[in-house]
Amino acid sequence: MKMYTITDSLKSECLILPLFEGEKLSKETLAHDETLSAGIARAMELEDFEGKKLQTTLLYTGEKETPRVLLIGLGKKKDLNVRTWKHAVGASVIFLQGKKYTSLAMVIPDDVTKLFGTKKAARQTVLAVGLASYAFDEHKSEKDARVDPLKHLAFLNISGNEKRAWQSGMEEGDVLSDAINDTRHLANTPPTIMTPVFLAKAAQKVGKILPSVRVSILGKAEAKKLGMGCFLGVAQGSALPPQFIIMEYQGGKKTEKPTVLVGKGITFDSGGLSLKPSAYMTDMKFDMLGAATVLGTIRAAAALGIKKNIVGLMPACENMPGGESYRPDDILVNMEGKTVEIGNTDAEGRLILCDALSYAKKFHPKEVIDFATLTGACMVALGNERSGLFSHDTSMVEKMMKSSEETGEQLWHLPLGEEYTEAIKSEVADVSNVGDVGGRGYAGASTAAAFLEFFTKNFETGESAYPWAHIDLSCSYYGGKGKPWIRHGANGFGIETMIEYLS
Ligand code: BES
Ligand code: MG
Ligand code: ZN
Repeated sequence: MKMYTITDSLKSECLILPLFEGEKLSKETLAHDETLSAGIARAMELEDFEGKKLQTTLLYTGEKETPRVLLIGLGKKKDLNVRTWKHAVGASVIFLQGKKYTSLAMVIPDDVTKLFGTKKAARQTVLAVGLASYAFDEHKSEKDARVDPLKHLAFLNISGNEKRAWQSGMEEGDVLSDAINDTRHLANTPPTIMTPVFLAKAAQKVGKILPSVRVSILGKAEAKKLGMGCFLGVAQGSALPPQFIIMEYQGGKKTEKPTVLVGKGITFDSGGLSLKPSAYMTDMKFDMLGAATVLGTIRAAAALGIKKNIVGLMPACENMPGGESYRPDDILVNMEGKTVEIGNTDAEGRLILCDALSYAKKFHPKEVIDFATLTGACMVALGNERSGLFSHDTSMVEKMMKSSEETGEQLWHLPLGEEYTEAIKSEVADVSNVGDVGGRGYAGASTAAAFLEFFTKNFETGESAYPWAHIDLSCSYYGGKGKPWIRHGANGFGIETMIEYLS
């Protein structure tokens, strides 16, 4: 936390000055330094900088205390929202890290604190800085090729009576960005290192640091005893032992029903015997992002002391081809005895999740939310800046959409429905792990969701066993291109929204 301070001094390697489109700079803008203000105003008169969204201009001031100023555009004032602000903050940090400046100051415009409220503005700002400054470069052998970590960032223009709120928002933002970067790091880690056991150890580490989190791991033998035939079916083609990771955080009363978070933990998805073409196999190290999101959410919730009971269920294994792999045409048996015909071994996520959704029933959950990089179809539909949300529970959907608006992480409500449920019926088993509506794999995101929905039922009554929502994390990793506010790799989508949702 020493990294972030509130200050009145302009002293830094570079001062970040966010400006709206068309905003005229008066010599009072930087109240403490009229010469600096006047210099910037003169530079702006040249109209090289118009304040358009994410426009950057670096100025050399000729002053000792503040040798450089980075102007960053916020776009039109009336369009300011949490995304534009975070993107501007993130883009500034990445730009300046690129120049190897590690001691920065940033002016916080009054409009930002007014629009979001001081505490939230601080939290969002620090979060954007934290996420932007993270780089996955530990495998670069030359130190020079790595990004210099930020050392210090001072915030300017926080008035006396706002300081406490800003400080507490900064602290929250710091906790959140640590948890989110940890999740990104797990996902970025190459799959030979990031095995199911490695992921389980990461969860145990959280349990060690935060005593309010209890972690238990079910190995292959225990999963077998529980009858998790779908989970073990997927795992059987891999040389690596599967791990069913359970994290329990008790922040609420003992008697309070928990929110159960379920996350897909495929540490590498080759497709199995239904092997993916090479171009689709790269990036499949990210197929454990659902599990990593759950881990990060529980870590953040515990660190922030959120007053809720939360259980995380993370089935983790690899999907690999081999002599012992499960096969298309196989019929796997879920832990509740439901049978699944395998049409394609690449539709493995829903199989490991179905055992987790069944297992969730043991906790008599208040609600269940699952996270999974489940379908390419969802990415085809929404691209990589928006995730798909599936749920029949209107109050969960409303709350989730509202939370995502607060954080600027975007969700889009996609349908469940009879045609998708029909599509996964099987001639030879209770359900099939593939199905489409209208041929050619159409509606792949919704048929996958319908498969999951099947396992959220109480099979005795036919009613749903718990309120449930599914998030297809189609957007949780970036190619990096065209997104100057975050670096290549996993982006940690979902944790912030879940924390907002849970608090
Ligand atoms: N992990 C993939 C989904 C995926 C693809 C996530 C691309 C992110 C980016 C999943 O296991 C998968 O392979 N799904 C198949 C399902 C199909 C075989 C029904 C898909 O989407 O092609
Ligand atoms: Mg797959
Ligand atoms: Zn997968």
